Order: sequence, then structure tokens, then C-alpha cells
Amino acid sequence: MTYMFKKNKTMSNQNLGLETQAIRTQLERTQYLEHSVPLYLTSSFIFEDAEDMRASFAEEKERNIYSRFSNPNTSEFVEKICLMEEAEDGYAFATGMAAVYSTFAALLNSGDHIVSASSVFGSTHTLFTKYFPKWNITTSYFDVNKPETIENFIQQNTKILYAESPTNPAVDILDLELLGKIAKKHNLILIIDNCFATPYIQNPIQFGADLVIHSATKLIDGQGRVLGGVTVGRSDLIREIYLFSRNTGPALSPFNAWVLSKSLETLPVRIEKHCENALKVAEFLENHPNVASVKYPFLKSHPQYEVAKKQMKLGGNIVAFEIKGGIESGRKFLDKIKLCSLSANLGDTRSIVTHPASTTHSKLTEEERLAVSITDGLVRVSVGLETVQDVINDLKQAFE
Ligand SMILES: Cc1ncc(COP(=O)(O)O)c(C=O)c1O
Repeated sequence: MTYMFKKNKTMSNQNLGLETQAIRTQLERTQYLEHSVPLYLTSSFIFEDAEDMRASFAEEKERNIYSRFSNPNTSEFVEKICLMEEAEDGYAFATGMAAVYSTFAALLNSGDHIVSASSVFGSTHTLFTKYFPKWNITTSYFDVNKPETIENFIQQNTKILYAESPTNPAVDILDLELLGKIAKKHNLILIIDNCFATPYIQNPIQFGADLVIHSATKLIDGQGRVLGGVTVGRSDLIREIYLFSRNTGPALSPFNAWVLSKSLETLPVRIEKHCENALKVAEFLENHPNVASVKYPFLKSHPQYEVAKKQMKLGGNIVAFEIKGGIESGRKFLDKIKLCSLSANLGDTRSIVTHPASTTHSKLTEEERLAVSITDGLVRVSVGLETVQDVINDLKQAFE
């Protein structure tokens, strides 16, 4: 069940393509017969009478009460993601991190244990290492390149198996089918952060994931405008996440939901172009003398190329490479970039170049950085939608 969403009648029971779902899934039209869905900027909704109000709060009626619980625009956005991810239900959040935090906080109790891939987004790592231990929730990390060791970390109190694929920022690939089998065998909740792949490229639920998380701030918005997050998956788990979130308040704003729902209409075409451009950038980098190695899921040289081909439709828009000369070379390379942006975001129409060792991960020791797959010369390029030759020329002149 999706909270308070009324499906467009023409949509029901049809086996439509993903692009059609992204475009044609929408709220029922109002009396004005608008073509494009309006923005419902309202904090609350009104009731007919006391009985209507009582029944609504008792959840005997499916309707909107207050926009912290649900709102037509957020429901439309969630419904589209559910269709694209083949999920039963979902809840939308103000940011990707609100989605990550609330999902774990809703499902875990004091004394529970998480098994996570070692290489996860920095703030997720901080959540696991700094904040969850305050509530007696502990985490063990497995090496993303040694998935055969995962079962060694599972304890009696392990409740969640967690990974990103591809990982941020090193673009490692986890075998989702393998994770699905391990989670099933040990009765764990498998949660996958699918942010780098998007629902267009990869659907972790097909491989056994129970929940899928997205930072919608990235490729789902795709134009660097708004923050957002979403968790979709098994309806019993989403129910817990919904109740937690309804009371704690991390909800996505209706305005951002409206923007993101519109963004989904163009997601498939944008992703096709992002990936075409990224492959060309990866091939250019692979042949450059100043580059020690390149990681892009659809390059044959990627250590998990076969796994990537099995579970991904395209390679994504993120290319990671190792510049020769370590930290100093990485910093100098960034200084020479002219066209691409130096920015903390990714998945924008504008290409973005970052050097994690001297920026986002500079407070870690070299040993700690290596444990999360961040080498000193690692440069991450989020390939945008500019004329790809212009992006390649920018990288080329920066090497010189
Ligand atoms: C893989 C991944 N997960 C989660 C997040 C957090 O998303 P947000 O910045 O929307 O909170 C990010 C942000 O970069 C990310 O890359």
C-alpha cells in the first residue's frame, strides 16, 4: 500500500514499460483537468466532520492528514520509484542521509548488529562508527573485494546486511545475487543503496534485496537543484519506517517531491546519455600515460566486470581513476580543471571532478582511507551531459 496515493485509472493492471511508468504514473486529475500534476503546497488536509477525522487517524480511511505523514506530491514520487524498482511500498525523505538514518533507526534495536561493506558513503560510515554505538548498535565491515568472507562477520545478533553497488567513490561492484543468497540463508534484511545505479540501471529487489535506498539528490534530480531521498521495498518493513518517520519528521517537502517526480520523467533518456559519455571518458582515461588505473563498471578491466554486466543495464556515470603521483598530483590536477566543476555533488548535468584524499576523506589516516578503497591518487569524475569531447579536452589539458 502506498500512503494516500490515488492511481491514475488508466494505469492499473497494465504491463507498461519503465519509461511509460516514469512519465504516466500520476495523481488523479483535479476538476481543472491539468495535464501536468500541480504542486500541493499544504501542511495539512481538512476533514468533513469529527467521524471523518477519527476514522482517518485510526487508518480506517486511506487519506492525507498532515504532510509530515503523506502528501499527494510525495506519494506520486514514491509510487513511481516503487514501480521502477518493483517494490511493494516506500517512503520519501528530505535527503538521502535521512533515508539511510531513518531506515536503520526504524528497524534496529539496542544490541543489534549490522554487517556492512567496508566501502560505503562517508556519512553512512560515520553513522555506523560514531552514532549507532551510542545506542549499542554495532557494525562489522567486510572487504568489498572479498565477498567470500561476508559470512565470517555474521553473528547471532546480526539483523541487517548493507552495501552500495557501485560504491562511492571507488566504483567497486558487489554481487547482489550473492548478497541476496547470504541474506536469505541467515535471515537478514538486505538493504542496498542504489544511488549510483538509479532504478533505470539496476533493480536490487530482483536479486533478493528487501529494501532499496536512493539519494534522489544525485541522478534522480540530475540537475543539482534539490535534496531528496527514498526507501522502497517490502511493505512490512516500510510500514515500520513510515511509523518511525511520521513521528520523527524527516519527510521530503512537497515542492522537492514535485521537482523529483518531474525529473523521473526524463531519467531514462538522461541516464542513457550520461552512461554513453562516461564510457567515452573512461576509455580516454584508460589510454592516458598519467593514469595508473581506471575503474568503470563497463570497462573490461574492471575487476568485477562480469558481475557488473550481470546486474547492470549500463555502467553508470561515475568514473574513478588513479592519477600517477599520489595526493600532490591529485590536488594539482583539480587546480587545472577549467570546464568541469569542483563540487561535492554528483549526478548533475554538469561534470564534476573530486579528489577524496585531499578533501572529503582528508581527516582519515592513509591506512583508514585504504580500508575504504580510497587511494591517495583516486580522482572521481561524475560525467555530465555536456558535449563529451569538451569534458575529455578539459581532463586532457589538466593532465598537461
Ligand atoms: C551512495 C550515497 N548514499 C547516500 C548519500 C547521501 O545523500 P544526500 O546527500 O542526499 O543526503 C550519498 C551522497 O553523496 C551517496 O553518494
